[in-house]
Amino acid sequence: GLKIVTIGGGSSYTPEIVEGFIRRYEELPVRELWLVDIETGKEKLEIIGNLAKRMVKKAGVPIAIYTTLNRREALPNADFVTTQFRVGSLDARIKDERIPLRHGYIGQETNGAGGMFKALRTIPVMLEIDQDMAELCPDAWLINFTNPSGIVTEGVLRYGKTKKIIGLCNVPIGMEMGVAKLFDVDSNRIRIDFAGLNHMVFGLSAYMDGNDITKSVIDKIADGKMGSTVKNIMNIDWVPEFVAGLSIIPCPYHRYYFKRQEMLEKELEEFSKGETRAEIVKKLEDDLFQLYKDPALDSKPPQLEQRGGAYYSDAACRLISSIYNDKGDIQPVDTRNNGALAGISPESVVEVSCVITKNGPRPLTMGELPIEINGLVQQIKSFERVVIDAAVTGDYNKALLAMTINPLVSSDTMAKVLLDEMLEAHQKDLPQF
Ligand code: NAD
Ligand code: G6P
Ligand code: MN
Repeated sequence: GLKIVTIGGGSSYTPEIVEGFIRRYEELPVRELWLVDIETGKEKLEIIGNLAKRMVKKAGVPIAIYTTLNRREALPNADFVTTQFRVGSLDARIKDERIPLRHGYIGQETNGAGGMFKALRTIPVMLEIDQDMAELCPDAWLINFTNPSGIVTEGVLRYGKTKKIIGLCNVPIGMEMGVAKLFDVDSNRIRIDFAGLNHMVFGLSAYMDGNDITKSVIDKIADGKMGSTVKNIMNIDWVPEFVAGLSIIPCPYHRYYFKRQEMLEKELEEFSKGETRAEIVKKLEDDLFQLYKDPALDSKPPQLEQRGGAYYSDAACRLISSIYNDKGDIQPVDTRNNGALAGISPESVVEVSCVITKNGPRPLTMGELPIEINGLVQQIKSFERVVIDAAVTGDYNKALLAMTINPLVSSDTMAKVLLDEMLEAHQKDLPQF
């Protein structure tokens, strides 16, 4: 049996991953699931732990659930560690979204200024986890969901000890489900060749039962039939001729880059009514925990699907299962490029379709990215690299540089305004600065 440790176990998402392990128990016999949180998450952790216990009991599977506020107690001999924590909790996210908006910039928790600050807060904590794992479970796989997932994963690969970290996101799964819905077929018949970066990923080609359907998928997207496939990103239709010209499947996050003005206006409209996504999520979370507390509840409530990360557990469980069972199937993950995307450094993390075996992901060779998207991907990768260096060193100039070269900021003067205000607002979670 397997021992899994989930860091950030008090997350309202946790019932989804518990359900995922229960459903796959036959192929993925989890013996122990340890949920780890910190002092401020104590109450949430307890509620989640009790719900998880009721869920496994109802399902009749012998998964033992443990909760702890001490991750070093949980880690010894773990087989897989999954990370889904949020340094500073949702209050920090509110700042990541509100401060840029107040200055007329996109307020997004994983892209632009907000995403940069989430990375600055998270990377040092991930490096501590990596250090503990090197001591207590050096052979374990580290499956990272903590956003910005690609940047955090690259931070660990460049500055940590483990080579066995894999980043994950539910966006590629959501895109495959979106395409499946377009054709009214089961999503396991659909495969997309993914290439790019986390929240900057493109579908280069799409297949149904192995047959290339890219052209008709593009036509349907141009017709506005697919929409945003995640709950956290507002749907605004693409200009049909833009999609036709692009001829590559964009991800929902591309709206922030190719529709920056429209997305900003929408966000400012919501903001003027007093709400950012972070505040909506906070309410959703309160409602979810009210439900979770009910001793009669013994399954994942449907309300959880209102969160943008819905189906993240499918990505996690199928990845863990393919490693454990040495399946050799294809899944999109965030991993060391190793030459899969020709124009990107081999050491950098990319989000790309990979063959998954017991040795982890082996990225499929994608060659040069198409010229139409290569420039933006390269610029984001440059931003990511500088953010990682700033997170590790606490170097102010590098942080300013990163903020300035981010396409959602693009001004040294405004980057400094945002940087100074955000450094101050997040001071307690940024010991390196
Ligand atoms: P949340 O605010 O509920 O945080 C989850 C838990 O992390 C909280 O209970 C908090 O107390 C705990 N925590 C904070 N610091 C910790 C630490 N150092 N060690 C252990 N636990 C700690 O957040 P959420 O909305 O549930 O999201 C959790 C994380 O997962 C976020 O980083 C989010 O961006 C990410 N996420 C990623 C994807 C993806 O596609 N990659 C999908 C969904 C969520
Ligand atoms: C998407 C992304 C996740 C992100 C989530 C936010 O699905 O892939 O990386 O964490 O949405 O959703 P939320 O409900 O927190 O706004
Ligand atoms: Mn994601």
